Amino acid sequence: MTKSDSTNRSSQTHPLDSMDDWEQDLLERYPEPQLVRSQNVSQQTDSFRNYAAQARPSVREFYRLNHRYQTVDFVRSKHAEFLTLSRRSMGSWEAMEYLNQLVDDSDPDIDLPQIEHLLQTAEAIRADGRPDWFILAGLVHDLGKILCLWGDAQWAVVGDTFPVGCRWSPRIVFYEAFADNPDHQVELYQTENGIYQSGCGLDQLMLSWGHDEYMYHVARDYLPSPALAMIRYHSCYPIHRESAYGHLLKQQDAELLKWVVDFNQYDLYTKRDQRMDVAGLRPYYEDLIARYFPPKIKW
Ligand SMILES: [Fe+2]
Ligand SMILES: [Fe+2]
Repeated sequence: MTKSDSTNRSSQTHPLDSMDDWEQDLLERYPEPQLVRSQNVSQQTDSFRNYAAQARPSVREFYRLNHRYQTVDFVRSKHAEFLTLSRRSMGSWEAMEYLNQLVDDSDPDIDLPQIEHLLQTAEAIRADGRPDWFILAGLVHDLGKILCLWGDAQWAVVGDTFPVGCRWSPRIVFYEAFADNPDHQVELYQTENGIYQSGCGLDQLMLSWGHDEYMYHVARDYLPSPALAMIRYHSCYPIHRESAYGHLLKQQDAELLKWVVDFNQYDLYTKRDQRMDVAGLRPYYEDLIARYFPPKIKW
């Protein structure tokens, strides 16, 4: 959403002041382990429930819309609309600057520009001496949020993702809101396996539409498979955090999910208040990008 078309926003598409409010909310649901230990906060099932009861009205509304509208047909229509990657051709750094145009109703004194979240994530991974493709995954993982610049609603860009086409897991946050989803009426979609085979594997699942799936398709020809798993599944909290849908996974998925969980700490718990020297970091990251991506990629 750019300044010019911000008037097209409505509470139906943009209940949150900022897409970052979803990530802020994740931190309330999944507090940093160190904080949990020092404050003796319980991380049992009841705290998951308590979280849902205490969530802000805008977040509640965000999930209501997400769970109401993310249907099998909706996801298929978004695949057809975006996965041809025929909108633009641009380099990764260019895409970071493009994403930075995103202007919403957030407080600029509190919320960092999108490019700084990407750099914070990548810098935290780099500081831990992780492989260069891991750092690069951190740098690009949220670039799919450019979907918002092309008019997609917040609930179709961010939010926890989950498989569509089979019975929803009660481990999905605000599970009750699925009562209004039209897929409720489709008998096949309400069975345990739905449109899938038991043990079919993570890569066979059609996840609710958002920035993860889109970015995975943009990057899939260029990055190694653990990096692609981090990008594709980082918002799939029901699977990587809540261990739901185990019956649809295959043995090799456990290995990939370890990488996703490893990545998640850098995505969620990197310092939000520390500003990044964007110009100073740029040469290092342009070099890193060039090691894996061609100068222009399809979006
Ligand atoms: Fe993300
Ligand atoms: Fe992120």
